[in-house]
Amino acid sequence: MRKFIPILSVALGALTMPAVASEATFDKIKIQAGSQLFEAECRRCHATDADHDSYGPPLENIVGRAAGSYPDYDYSVALEASGIVWTPAALRAWIEDNAGFMPGTKMRHVGITDPTVQDFIISYLTAITTRDGAAISD
Ligand code: HEC
Repeated sequence: MRKFIPILSVALGALTMPAVASEATFDKIKIQAGSQLFEAECRRCHATDADHDSYGPPLENIVGRAAGSYPDYDYSVALEASGIVWTPAALRAWIEDNAGFMPGTKMRHVGITDPTVQDFIISYLTAITTRDGAAISD
């Protein structure tokens, strides 16, 4: 958790400023924090658009996407056959303990258990989801 502290303190510092922060500003801060956390924890394996090769499947439009459905990606059987859809709740469970959530996945274990950090990453993943009708609630 230590490496998250600088990012979180910037985000929390901004959030606790006495200025009247609109909800839009609050969302923007969460997305920015999530973007930095994504860079630190996920980017080395995941591109966010189809123009970039990555070891893991690109995560463009991930919120609302069927698991294991990125074209031509060589998924594990476990992920491909899971039948789940990446709702925010499913993403939270995955980020928290992907190997426990889906035994047999080939994604190295990630264990981000802080709900605030999970929220930030999910905000970012939601922000990069642009497909129509992709707004899915928990
Ligand atoms: C060490 C490399 C690596 C890291 C780090 C990593 N992933 Fe993955 N990820 C993978 C691989 C490989 C798969 C494919 C797993 C499979 O087929 O079982 C995957 C699959 C996924 C999927 C399912 C995508 C789909 O198309 O169904 C999601 C969502 C995901 N990762 C999110 C994340 C997030 C968010 C992070 C950072 C918190 C992260 N991953 C960190 C390698 C990684």
